[in-house]
Amino acid sequence: MKLEGKVALVTGAARGIGKAIAELFSREGAIVGLVDLRPATELASALSKQGKEAIFLPCDITDPVAVQIMVEGVHRRFGRIDILVNNAGIIARGTLLDLTVEVWRKVLDVNLNGVFNCCKAVVPFMIKDGGGKILNISSIAGKTGDLTAAPVYGTSKGGVNAFTKSLARQLAPYKINVNAIAPHAIETEMSAEWSPEKRKEIIESIPLKRLGKPEEVAEAALFLVSEGASFITGEVLDMNGGYFMD
Ligand SMILES: NC(=O)c1ccc[n+]([C@@H]2O[C@H](COP(=O)([O-])OP(=O)(O)OC[C@H]3O[C@@H](n4cnc5c(N)ncnc54)[C@H](O)[C@@H]3O)[C@@H](O)[C@H]2O)c1
Repeated sequence: MKLEGKVALVTGAARGIGKAIAELFSREGAIVGLVDLRPATELASALSKQGKEAIFLPCDITDPVAVQIMVEGVHRRFGRIDILVNNAGIIARGTLLDLTVEVWRKVLDVNLNGVFNCCKAVVPFMIKDGGGKILNISSIAGKTGDLTAAPVYGTSKGGVNAFTKSLARQLAPYKINVNAIAPHAIETEMSAEWSPEKRKEIIESIPLKRLGKPEEVAEAALFLVSEGASFITGEVLDMNGGYFMD
């Protein structure tokens, strides 16, 4: 098992990509904290039955005080936090003309400030405990600009990519690796919003001619937080079926 004895926090773990990451990390021997606004109590008890302990941590990542309290509680209970996966995110649709300042702020607050809040709370513990792995779930839109979303989603993810690289440099002396995955078109509730026509068009545009699966993102996440990736930091890994090659 690749994560035996590790303690991992996964944000947005109640469903979609975060859930698949939490399930795989648990199968690989990690104690997993499932951070989400949505209930994940049943998922936590199912994971606890199959392997190591998993706990649901209800928390809004946009609230820095709540995040700090949650992270301190996890560290007090398990003695360390080895892995942080910043996966929670939201999307908005439409053009600049439809985009309100409220939606602009909300998307940046969850997708970018939320990542900052979690890193700010977890990194001091990782430094004290001698290292760690941070993985941010970004998006292709952070590199290409928005393809199907409103022009704030890609902006938030571009910020995540730059933040990933900045932290990778700053935290390398503390043995903390910071990487990101930039997926495109993964089959989750977020992508279920597409009309059948849009979905067909997107599949046609992808060389592998299908959508990605949350479990495939989880496999890449496992690699990037495992010892096998110990010399990789500051990487934003494309995962898009060949649609975009950096
Ligand atoms: N699905 C895709 O095609 C796709 C493509 C590129 C990137 N991504 C990124 O992958 C990540 C996961 O996406 P998904 O498709 O699984 O989405 P999803 O909507 O299925 O799941 C997101 C989870 O995040 C949680 N969340 C939202 N705001 C939160 C907050 N403030 N505090 C705590 N939890 C919060 C939600 O409750 C939900 O459980 C996101 O960051 C998304 O931007 C997804």
